[in-house]
Amino acid sequence: MRKKIAKLMELPKGATKRFSFKRNGLLIDAFVANFNGDIVAYENLCRHLPITLDYGDGEFFSKDNSLFVCQTHGAFYEPKTGLCIAGPCIGASLIPLDTELVDGEIFLV
Ligand code: FES
Repeated sequence: MRKKIAKLMELPKGATKRFSFKRNGLLIDAFVANFNGDIVAYENLCRHLPITLDYGDGEFFSKDNSLFVCQTHGAFYEPKTGLCIAGPCIGASLIPLDTELVDGEIFLV
């Protein structure tokens, strides 16, 4: 599977974008983010309860853009690793997705 999910120029540092993809017939909610120049993507699923991190509003970063935050109970995740470092699911990790940058386009691979 290879799916175009964003243009790099539309994703400056600190920006995120939601997208979805199908796996085994199921629609999976996900997001891609530019964390200080590194493009990362994860399933949009908190590891505490099976609900989205952003609560539907597309906000994933903490106020200082240093961490991802779950809006429901405030878990904090490291953007580069997906590891939860504070909150009810500390020690668990977001489900990572592989991306590829080709000619300024970000693809889910
Ligand atoms: S649902 Fe995310 S911290 Fe509780």
